[in-house]
Amino acid sequence: MPAKVDMDKIVSLCKRRGFIFPSSEIYGGLASCWDYGPMGVELKRNVKEAWWKSIVQERDDVVGLDTSIMMHPGVWAASGHIDNFTDPLVECKSCHLRWRADAIEGKKCPQCGGELTEPRMFNLMFKTFMGPVEEEASIVYLRPETAQGIFVNFENVVTTSRKKLPLGIAQIGKSFRNEITPGNFIFRTREFEHMELEYFVKPGTDEKWLDYWVKERFDWYVKLGIRKDNLRLRQHGKDELAHYARDCYDIDYLFPMGWSELEGIANRGDFDLTQHAKHSGKELSYYDAEAGEKYVPYVIEPSAGVDRSLLAFLVDAYDEEEIEGEKRTVLHLNPSLAPIKVAVLPLSRNEKLTPLAKEVYKQLCPNFVTDYDDSQSIGRRYRRQDEIGTPFCVTIDFESLEDKQVTIRERDSLAQIRVPIGELKKVIAAKLKGEAFDASSLWATRQK
Ligand code: GAP
Repeated sequence: MPAKVDMDKIVSLCKRRGFIFPSSEIYGGLASCWDYGPMGVELKRNVKEAWWKSIVQERDDVVGLDTSIMMHPGVWAASGHIDNFTDPLVECKSCHLRWRADAIEGKKCPQCGGELTEPRMFNLMFKTFMGPVEEEASIVYLRPETAQGIFVNFENVVTTSRKKLPLGIAQIGKSFRNEITPGNFIFRTREFEHMELEYFVKPGTDEKWLDYWVKERFDWYVKLGIRKDNLRLRQHGKDELAHYARDCYDIDYLFPMGWSELEGIANRGDFDLTQHAKHSGKELSYYDAEAGEKYVPYVIEPSAGVDRSLLAFLVDAYDEEEIEGEKRTVLHLNPSLAPIKVAVLPLSRNEKLTPLAKEVYKQLCPNFVTDYDDSQSIGRRYRRQDEIGTPFCVTIDFESLEDKQVTIRERDSLAQIRVPIGELKKVIAAKLKGEAFDASSLWATRQK
C-alpha cells in the first residue's frame, strides 16, 4: 500500500507552522539536528504525556524515574554497549561518503558507484570527557538508551516503592547515537528522546508478558488515532536480535519512505541485571515473599522514540481536502495530541468585539492551551488552525454581544454549534475527552 503523503510536505508544514525547524538554521543548520518550535513543543509534550498517562499514571504496577544522561563508564561495559553497540561502516574510496554496510544493496557506493572499503565496526556512542582533563581515564559516554539508568536503580526503586513484582519502571529522556546514516527528517537523528519501560517479571512468565505489552503498545497508537492499516507487527529473526534480547517484536509504521520501525518490544531476559551484578559486585535479585524464593527477574521492554512517534502521528493526521471548491490542509490529530485545543477568533478586529473575545479567551486559557487570533479574514484563520490541528475554533460575532452566545466550529466535521459563553468551558472539556455531551439543550441556534 503506498504512503499517502510525501515527507517534503510534512517537513514544509512543520517549518511553515512552527512545529520543527532545522537546528542552528542561521548558521546553515547541523546535520540531522532539529529544534521544536511553539507548535512542536506542545505536540511533543502531549505525546510524552499520553505515554506517561497510559504507562505510569493509569497503572499501579509501574513507577517513574528520571536518571542522568552521563553514567559511570562501567555501566556501558556491563550492558555490552562498548563491545556490541556498533554498526558496520564502509567508506567510498572516490567520494568518501560513509554508509552503513547492512543498509545498502550491492558493493558499490550508492552515491557515485565508487568502490567501497571493507566494513569496520563503528561504535555509535558519543564520547566526551568529564572534568578539565581530556584523558582516557576521564571518558564518559552520552547514554544511547535510557534503559540502563533504570537497571542500575532497580534495587533503589524496589526498596523505596515497596511494590511487588511484576513491577515496571518508566523513563522519558534524551538519548544520543552517532548514527552513520541519520535522515528522513526526525525519523533517525543523533539526538532524540526515548520513552522506555522496563517491566520486571518472574522468569517463566516473561513470554506471557511480552505478548501483553506488544498488544498494549499496538493499541496505544490506534487509540491515539493511527490507522490500523498503517501499522504492522514484525517478530525479529534469530539473526537480527540485539545482543541482550531473547525475543523482540517491532511495531512498524508505514512512513512516507515505507514500512519502518516505530517501536521495539523486547524480552531482555535477565541479561542486564545479571551483567550489572557481575560488573558492580552488588547482588541484583528479588525476594518473592509469596513464592518464598529469590530470583533475578526477567525484563520486558517496550522502547519507543518520542520524535519518531510524533512523526507517525503527524503523517497519519495529514490530509488535503476540498471543501466547497477550496483546498484545505488539515491535521486530524487526536484532540489530546493537538498543540492548541481551542482558538478564540473574533469575527473581526472591531473594537466592540474585542473585549468580549478577550473575556472568552481569559475564561478558556487556564483550562486548555488556547490561541487568540484576530488577524486576517476569518476564513484564513480557520485554515491556519486546521493546518496545526486545532480541534475547536470559537467565533465571537456581533450577535454574541446581544445573546452572549458564541459559535464552536469543529475541525473534522466542520459542524458549527452555538453555545452560551457560560457553558463553553464545560462543552469544550467534554468534547476534548470525546464524551458524548448532549449540548442540544444549550444550542439556541444551529448554523450551517
Ligand atoms: N533500549 C532499547 C532500545 O533503545 P532501539 O530499537 O534501539 O531499542 C527503540 O530503540 C526506539 O527508539 C526505536 O523504535 C525508535 O522509535 C527510537 N530510536 C532509536 N534510535 C533512534 C534515532 N537514531 N533517532 C530517533 N529515534 C530513534
